[in-house]
Amino acid sequence: MRMYAVTGAASGMGAAVAARLRSDGCRVIGVDRDGPPADWPDPWITADLSTPQGRRAAVDGVPAACDGALDGLVLAAGLGPGVRREREIVEVNVLGATELLDGLRPALAKRDGAKAVVFGSNSTTSTPLVPRRAIALLGRGETGRAAKILARRRALSGPLAYAASKIAVSRACRERAVSSEWAGSGIRLNVLAPGPVLTPLLQAQLDGETGKQVRSFPVPIGECGTADHLAEWVMLMLSPAADFMVGSVVTVDGGTEALLRPRDWPSRLPLRQMPRMLWTMYRAPARGQVARYR
Ligand code: NAI
Repeated sequence: MRMYAVTGAASGMGAAVAARLRSDGCRVIGVDRDGPPADWPDPWITADLSTPQGRRAAVDGVPAACDGALDGLVLAAGLGPGVRREREIVEVNVLGATELLDGLRPALAKRDGAKAVVFGSNSTTSTPLVPRRAIALLGRGETGRAAKILARRRALSGPLAYAASKIAVSRACRERAVSSEWAGSGIRLNVLAPGPVLTPLLQAQLDGETGKQVRSFPVPIGECGTADHLAEWVMLMLSPAADFMVGSVVTVDGGTEALLRPRDWPSRLPLRQMPRMLWTMYRAPARGQVARYR
């Protein structure tokens, strides 16, 4: 039987993915700070991924529950922009993904065709004023220093912490995805970047102080996404359809990003990036990062 681990499995899109996998006959190890839904039959790890202890419990508990071999990993646990707890947002959204990716990679490497999907967000490309320094610090796992910078933005600290965390985690995934440890070991890692999806996370924002701003965010199709719909995208990204997909950020957002940034990409390679590109082309095969194709 195929084994998957899903964080954030107690609610919203994580719960929808877990249910969808189970309906396909897979076993799902749920990971969440909340307990499992009633009559959950599979293993469950209750862990707060905003703490090192919680992340350690997940990294130790998942392999123990699947005999050390995983077919797929879905990292959906996350806090939204509506909470002004910058440190917690960045701990869960960044380290709750990167530490689990690193800790559970050996279990994925044991299965042919293993896949990992991480939840990003279209807020990565539609939020202005995100402090670059905070993104850079998050890229190095320095959540405490990043949170201090973000907290200075007062009323904007929640949305900015959220966008910074999702930018950092998406980049961390892209860097890992192409490496010898991931692509080179047969594991596919990609990011799903939803727009507004009607889950408890979004509902809390709509009901809170920021409800008016959230509603003003334009969605060309005129409605939010549903958790079940996004779960179908995750299923595709876990399937053999994603065998040739590596380090992609797949935006599924009802058209918001295309509406706001229609001409920003695709975009030509800036000249100043040429040296880096040539260096990478030269170095990547030597590092075992690229298998030469015929
Ligand atoms: P949700 O709030 O319905 O579910 C999130 C789950 O994460 C919950 O079960 C919660 O208990 C868990 N979680 C939160 N903090 C945790 C912690 N410290 N430790 C362990 N588990 C924790 O949210 P939703 O909407 O299903 O979000 C799933 C992912 O999609 C999140 O990463 C979110 O940032 C992202 N996303 C959501 C969008 C939306 O409009 N709903 C849009 C773009 C991205």
